Amino acid sequence: PLAATGTLVGAAAARRGAVAAFNVITLEHIEAVVAGAEAVDAPVILQISENAVRYRYGRLQPLARAAAAVADGARVDVALHLDHVQSDDLLRQAADAGFSSVMYDAARLSYDENLAATRAAADWGHANGLWVEAELGEVGGKDGAAPLDAHAPGARTDPGEARAFVSDAGVDALAVAVGSSHAMTTRTAALDHDLLEQLAEGLRDLDVPLVLHGSSGVPDDELAAAVRGGIAKVNVGTALNIAMTAAIREFLATHPDAVDSRKYLTVGREAMSRTVGELITVLRG
Ligand code: G3H
Ligand code: ZN
Repeated sequence: PLAATGTLVGAAAARRGAVAAFNVITLEHIEAVVAGAEAVDAPVILQISENAVRYRYGRLQPLARAAAAVADGARVDVALHLDHVQSDDLLRQAADAGFSSVMYDAARLSYDENLAATRAAADWGHANGLWVEAELGEVGGKDGAAPLDAHAPGARTDPGEARAFVSDAGVDALAVAVGSSHAMTTRTAALDHDLLEQLAEGLRDLDVPLVLHGSSGVPDDELAAAVRGGIAKVNVGTALNIAMTAAIREFLATHPDAVDSRKYLTVGREAMSRTVGELITVLRG
């Protein structure tokens, strides 16, 4: 059934585990994520990014309604989250479209501008029943950009700033830049676990869970360590596309006469499902 992001992340954090949040682009992604979560009997978050909305001709409703319908019929708890929102117009569509949460992304701005924009988004979100995640520091590789130099000081989240940001902006969760980068196609990211520990320690009494973005590039053992270190929501997108595309590529190569799109979408969907189950098993704690 449909559940709330805040409830799922809170429950995961309480048992020192994490809930996986998968970026969905098509109906096949949505079905694969829910089937994968059902296979390992775990709750899951379906997230739709502003980028994905752009791909869907700028319309949120078609994919959001599909996600809500699949969530309704699921045997596990499924929450809907709107991801990497920069547009205030999109933010304002969230509550009506069935989302219980949003990630408001003003990380490209200076600290003061990020804080002001995020506080306004959090105030609006809370007044409209939404759980609000924001980002401080910047996880690289967004929008097809080259990954940021993971060791550049500005790119990492500063522990001192994080505490002030979270209490001043009033957000419910914080995405941190600790060495992962978006859209990696190899699992070679090395996380800064000392920094993560400082961040988790600094925010402990505020009870604000930490979120890892760009998790497709992070190896299993590093993901498990990050969860032990205080990450309670793990965002995964690219890994689904890697699984789907490889399966479809192989199917088409071995079935050159195939025409019915269901034939290759089926193998693509199954490959995504397996990836979902495997990742949830690493993260659930
Ligand atoms: O918000 C979405 C995630 O950060 C996905 O990142 O595609 O690198 O796994 P990824
Ligand atoms: Zn992200």
